[in-house]
Amino acid sequence: MLNEREIESCYLGQFIPVQYHHNMLMDQNRMGGFKAAIDYAVKPGMKVLELGGGTGVLSWFAAAKADKVYCVEFNPDMVREARRFMALNPNGHKVDVIHADAFEYLPPEPVDVVICEMIHVGMLREKQVEVIESFKRRYAARFGGPLPVFVPEAVIMAAQPLHQAYDFEGFYAPIVQFQETGSNPPGTVELSAPAVYSILDFSQPVDPTIAWEGKFLIERAGALTAVRFITKNILAVVQERSTTIDWLNHYMSLPLATPMRVNAGDVVRISFNYRVGASIQSLQANLRCEVLHEVAPQGQALQAYA
Ligand SMILES: C[S@@+](CC[C@H](N)C(=O)[O-])C[C@H]1O[C@@H](n2cnc3c(N)ncnc32)[C@H](O)[C@@H]1O
Repeated sequence: MLNEREIESCYLGQFIPVQYHHNMLMDQNRMGGFKAAIDYAVKPGMKVLELGGGTGVLSWFAAAKADKVYCVEFNPDMVREARRFMALNPNGHKVDVIHADAFEYLPPEPVDVVICEMIHVGMLREKQVEVIESFKRRYAARFGGPLPVFVPEAVIMAAQPLHQAYDFEGFYAPIVQFQETGSNPPGTVELSAPAVYSILDFSQPVDPTIAWEGKFLIERAGALTAVRFITKNILAVVQERSTTIDWLNHYMSLPLATPMRVNAGDVVRISFNYRVGASIQSLQANLRCEVLHEVAPQGQALQAYA
């Protein structure tokens, strides 16, 4: 019998089966970003904790410099796999793979860096925010301050009105889509520039509710059928070079309940609210869009409408 947490985990897709971890290992943007960020954040001799270790790859990156890495994973299949992989790799002996729930586990000693990649677009579905918030509370109570550095350090989330085609060989199916970043696939047209709706800084207390309303200046005529959700993870802030090491998640586009025709110069209001870690459907059910038909003054910055 599965308990309530396990049932929710299966439903929300946190209980990621072994075969999907190959896709994560193959995602070069994700892997390259984390490798560079961990190489930057972890200094020789440090202690590191990873929450949600999966194959253990991020813990293993940390083991290149760290003295000790605690890698916590609750899927027993992945615990077995991570232990097997550690035995096959140099420095693997520095990684202790622990079968535990990240909501409950605390390391036996203070750590310098905490890695956590339970990340889904919009901070939906997976428990990144809740796991980190729970960890911070319990860690401060056990060890006091300062808190470790988190990888990722922060996340920036934005929304963008789209024309998204939903014709599949004549079959009309307005459905959630995940898309590669970079160029738009056929059938996707950006109707306006994106607007940032939330910035979460993991070094500070993070509010689990996200509620936003913003206005967009429509740049080209078309059918407004979807809202794209953009999630950029700031994996590390490289202060010496005044730059960041980032990982941009796949875009998620959510169909609107009622598509609407828009013209260049229209102003559209989009609003939504959801809880981090909740389902995509819960966001979709609270996604509202309205054409205000105000024509924006020439050259005025979009921020003026936010
Ligand atoms: C997106 S995967 C990332 C895996 C690995 N860190 C990587 O980057 O390849 C998230 C991992 O967190 C694990 N996980 C989810 N909830 C957890 C929890 N409450 N405690 C421990 N591990 C958890 C999942 O089983 C999964 O292996």
